[in-house]
Amino acid sequence: MNDTIWTDVDRFFTDTLLPDDPVFAETLRAGDAAGLPPINVSPLQGMLLQVLVRSLGAHRVLEIGTLAGYSTIWMARALPEGGTLVTLELDPHHAEVARRNFERAGVDRVVELRLGRALESLVAIEEENRGPFDFVFVDADKPAYPEYIRWALRLARPGALIVVDNVVRGGEILEAGSDDPMVAGTRSALEIMGAEPRLLATALQTVGSKGYDGFAVALVTG
Ligand code: SAH
Ligand code: DHB
Ligand code: MG
Repeated sequence: MNDTIWTDVDRFFTDTLLPDDPVFAETLRAGDAAGLPPINVSPLQGMLLQVLVRSLGAHRVLEIGTLAGYSTIWMARALPEGGTLVTLELDPHHAEVARRNFERAGVDRVVELRLGRALESLVAIEEENRGPFDFVFVDADKPAYPEYIRWALRLARPGALIVVDNVVRGGEILEAGSDDPMVAGTRSALEIMGAEPRLLATALQTVGSKGYDGFAVALVTG
């Protein structure tokens, strides 16, 4: 068992299950051409986000960490008429690429990209009463994951789902007392989720085109 077979199976699932929508490849190509790192969710993970958003009937989606807007577009495609998605991005260059991608994908009217540090945008979102959100996808700077989980809990309605990317990182998550702030941040985020009585939380290990990683998924119960 190795990365080759994971990637081959991912390709088989992708070819067999996913619609062949050129918008997604164009979104990634634009990110690549602009020098953005290829750290978007995989196509199959994007469809998982779409399935979850759609099955919840989510009207309001919050994403922390936009990059080129690849995951954003998968989720935006799941929104009903009148639904909106707010996505938070720190890097103005990433934001510019993402905005063009949203236009190309025809989701620019339902997606609001907020440029700036997510922790500041979250304060503004609360002040503007933009919530409560039905779905939150956490995928920005890992050291701040504990703060993002606290914010997700503040801004999500009971019945909402919180999905957190990159909770395995090739197994690095096992390193208790790690001095890598990404590992430490992700570990404390998981500890907060496990200790929070308002959450039913689980995590899934994933292999595939993004190597060995995983998602945490939590339902806000009250
Ligand atoms: N969700 C995207 C990938 C996001 S990569 C996808 O799957 O397609 C993480 C993004 O978070 C990067 O674009 C990075 O610039 C952004 N980011 C990092 N720190 C941030 C912060 N403090 N506030 C907002 N965005 C941040
Ligand atoms: C990295 C960040 C991500 O969100 C991801 O899905 C994969 C890698 C990174 O910063 O290396
Ligand atoms: Mg990620």
